[in-house]
Amino acid sequence: MANQESDRKIRLAILISGRGSNMFALRDALSDYDEKAEIILIAADKQCAGITLAQAEDLPCLVVPYHGRPKAEAEAELIDALKSAEVDIIILAGFMRILSADFVAEFDGRIINIHPSLLPHYKGLHTHYRTLDAGDSHHGASVHLVNAELDDGPILLQASIAIHKDDTAKSLAMRLLPLEHWLYCKVITGLVSGELVMTKSGGVWQSPVTVPAELGRVTICPQKPS
Ligand code: GRF
Repeated sequence: MANQESDRKIRLAILISGRGSNMFALRDALSDYDEKAEIILIAADKQCAGITLAQAEDLPCLVVPYHGRPKAEAEAELIDALKSAEVDIIILAGFMRILSADFVAEFDGRIINIHPSLLPHYKGLHTHYRTLDAGDSHHGASVHLVNAELDDGPILLQASIAIHKDDTAKSLAMRLLPLEHWLYCKVITGLVSGELVMTKSGGVWQSPVTVPAELGRVTICPQKPS
């Protein structure tokens, strides 16, 4: 990862597959850090709503189609693009393709994901349905470093919201989204500002993180041992 004290800006890529609301939240949050970091590439595995909006704003976009060809070929094209762009950190923001172990190894310790659950619970899809189905009292979102396992890897920040009696999967997803945006922006701007320091085994916050009370409550925030 780029040294935050060097003059070189940290080069970020955001990978998406859908509406791109996390990507736009990150773009907005990073505008306060444009001397330290830049979004060098927004890539999608298909022409999705998020990439169409990003193209309309003249952001640096790339579509690498996965459908109708071997996954290894699509991944190789994406890896080439990320390497040519000299990307430091890859941010998965609703990218609906499972990265191969080779892809993860290529960018080891430099890929970050957000997952809409209180990991390690509910890896994979349909997290809102599954937490309701289980009768849980709380749901949440986790930002984590990516390893070769699905929705695994050290958690950098996690927060929860209370589940309401009348919640549906749709209402829960809608209520969780502002927390997701806040968490992802906090982690990525934290990395850029040095508030979150990456280590070999994950990340360490230099001071405790508090989520605005109306959004949720932090449940995991790795700290330096005192
Ligand atoms: C978010 O819920 C994220 O947690 C999950 O995919 C969704 C992406 O939403 N991984 P958006 O495209 O950022 O709006």
